[in-house]
Amino acid sequence: MVRGVDTPAECVEVESAHAERAVELLRGSGLLLPGSKAKSDRVRGVVRIPVVASSSAAAKLLSAHGIPSAPCVDTFEVGSRGLRFTDLLRGVLPEEVLSRIPRSYQLVGSVAVIHLPEELLQYGPEIGEAIARVSAGVRAVYSSIATEGEFRVRKLVRLWGEELTETVHTEYGVKFVLDISRVYFNPTLSYEHWRISEEVASGERVLDLFSGVGPFSFHIASKRAATCFAVDSNPWAVIYMVKSMALNKLRGRVVPVLSRVEEFLEATGERSFTRAIVDLPHRSLEYVDAVLGKLVCGGVAHVYALGGEEPPAVAASSARLVEVRRVLDYAPRKYVYGLKLARVC
Ligand SMILES: C[S@@+](CC[C@H](N)C(=O)[O-])C[C@H]1O[C@@H](n2cnc3c(N)ncnc32)[C@H](O)[C@@H]1O
Repeated sequence: MVRGVDTPAECVEVESAHAERAVELLRGSGLLLPGSKAKSDRVRGVVRIPVVASSSAAAKLLSAHGIPSAPCVDTFEVGSRGLRFTDLLRGVLPEEVLSRIPRSYQLVGSVAVIHLPEELLQYGPEIGEAIARVSAGVRAVYSSIATEGEFRVRKLVRLWGEELTETVHTEYGVKFVLDISRVYFNPTLSYEHWRISEEVASGERVLDLFSGVGPFSFHIASKRAATCFAVDSNPWAVIYMVKSMALNKLRGRVVPVLSRVEEFLEATGERSFTRAIVDLPHRSLEYVDAVLGKLVCGGVAHVYALGGEEPPAVAASSARLVEVRRVLDYAPRKYVYGLKLARVC
């Protein structure tokens, strides 16, 4: 079990006069129980300091610095604010396990998602509970195994909390309802969603291809009187876009379209959009020519594509490369780049 508020912990008892120095020494060697408060007994003139490893290891350290102490066990108030979840697991899971737990995880509404190596799934309940303790409002913690199929949906294993995969996520005040087991969603892209929406002017017609649950479109339409056609082949993505409409006060319009992008492009007239977003990083470049044909002269395409240390090359005679940015780490030495192209006629 992860240590919580007023739960037992090993400790060392020192005279009050030595307490400050003892805390400093224990903290410096990583033995102090993070987020915890020492207990002072004024009558006896002693302080009890909670530790993460055994109290005998702590006593040995203090003794080496001339501070006498006695081992003890007591209950301590352990707060979780400002702590990393791994701090709560010190002394709970073996060091060797701790060193292999990824430090980062994603928060999607009330759900947290971490990518645990398979051999660590047995520690899932402790890891999940620790994540929930340091992240306000988290009701369920999952480990994602892989992103699967055309819909890029994650396979999930529940580690802790409720059986809850549908949640409302908020980015810069824009709300999306979505089920992380049914649709693709990556909260790490929130800045990118916001950044693109800042470029759009009212009156634009935007093609949001491979839209997922429509974060680009909702950011744009909540800010500008623009019309965004959000195209995705996953029926759940379209269902959640319709649901998200009720959650946001939109200045523009989001038009969810359930279609494969190939078919949508075939059925759409040339030069009818001012801007396009193409977000299927491992295949986006295949669509560039067809998408540029849908843009008015001077129209802009934001293309997200995979590259290594160097960005991917785009060969399109009808476009000028305006900007290249690294947007996301994808795999070791593989990145998602954002390429901005302007249609030339
Ligand atoms: C990388 S995700 C898009 C993410 C989204 N733009 C965002 O910012 O959250 C790719 C999306 O493309 C959809 N998809 C994959 N192949 C498709 C196709 N041929 N036609 C339409 N949608 C497709 C998937 O269902 C998935 O939602």
